[in-house]
Amino acid sequence: MTDRPYVIDEMISAKSIAARIEALSQEIHDEFDGTDKLVVVGLLRGSFVFIADLVRELDLPIEVDFLEASSYGDGMESSREVRILKDLRGAIEGRDVLVVEDIVDTGHTLHHVTNLLKSREPARLKTIALLDKPTRREVDMKADWTGFEIPDEFVVGYGIDFAQRNRNLPFIGKVRFI
Ligand code: IMP
Repeated sequence: MTDRPYVIDEMISAKSIAARIEALSQEIHDEFDGTDKLVVVGLLRGSFVFIADLVRELDLPIEVDFLEASSYGDGMESSREVRILKDLRGAIEGRDVLVVEDIVDTGHTLHHVTNLLKSREPARLKTIALLDKPTRREVDMKADWTGFEIPDEFVVGYGIDFAQRNRNLPFIGKVRFI
């Protein structure tokens, strides 16, 4: 599958992503204004570009932490069974937390991660996803903020990979096999 040749068609430009992040960061700022220190949790690895751009738009006291959950591996299908490969470094009890995800697809990953983090009793737990594929959902899960709703296409770029490739594209593109 992964050695089949493919091309990438641009779906969301770098400019559109930047504009959307600016608008979202305003809403997040309004939600967390007055927070003592917001813990922004990036889900590795797909959110690393998104979280980097998002936190630089946030005029709030923040800490950044990362959590890695198992995902697609090298394929194009969700494994459904979510395992934590790397946990947070810091405690979140009593803290305000914002979880940053690249894509909500079946919803299993965000569902599992938010349940886990809620069990640690943060003061507030909110979620943001750059992309949402609502037609793929298998569990009832929606991020508090979403960048873009997209159709059921396999996408890459802006941190998101296909078998570890294409994370460094500045835009979101869809994979088209040729
Ligand atoms: P979910 O658990 O099915 O919601 O899957 C979430 C994870 O699957 C995301 O964080 C991505 O890492 C990965 N994923 C979902 N859709 C795509 C895609 O179109 N391209 C690359 N990775 C994807």
